[in-house]
Amino acid sequence: MKDAVLYYSIGGHCAKIAKSFAEKTGAELIEIQPVHKWTGWKAYPICGYQASLGRRVKLRKIDADLRSFDRLVVVSPIHAGKVAAAVRSFLFENRSHYSDVKLVLCHGDQTNTYESAKIRLEKELMFTFSEFESFAD
Ligand SMILES: Cc1cc2nc3c(=O)[nH]c(=O)nc-3n(C[C@H](O)[C@H](O)[C@H](O)COP(=O)(O)O)c2cc1C
Repeated sequence: MKDAVLYYSIGGHCAKIAKSFAEKTGAELIEIQPVHKWTGWKAYPICGYQASLGRRVKLRKIDADLRSFDRLVVVSPIHAGKVAAAVRSFLFENRSHYSDVKLVLCHGDQTNTYESAKIRLEKELMFTFSEFESFAD
């Protein structure tokens, strides 16, 4: 079974989790990169706004054939209670290229698993994730 682990990360938490998933399984590690990546203090209002309004953002082209993988593991931070805009955009853009996707969410809130964010995204995508896991920082 050929897996790919895709991640988007501002502060490094999702990158670390994605790398450990990839190392454990021998999966290919791929970064989801917005054309404009917000960092520093500006990331909070802008990424929070994009996520909360369900905005799609422009992504850099991924240099891999996603159809060649049996399963994708997609790792996203929670922004303003939702899956990050870059990851949401990736999933919408590539909807026809995948069928088996595990969603992994990273968040600051220790008391919430953010399964509600997964369910909201499933309804929007009209797609059911095959597995779900979430990690608090
Ligand atoms: C713009 C922004 C909004 C966030 N909103 C939430 C939130 O609503 N709930 C939460 O638990 N954590 C929130 N966080 C924290 C991140 O989800 C968490 O720290 C995550 O692990 C960051 O992943 P990263 O370091 O790979 O970027 C937010 C962080 C940012 C930058």
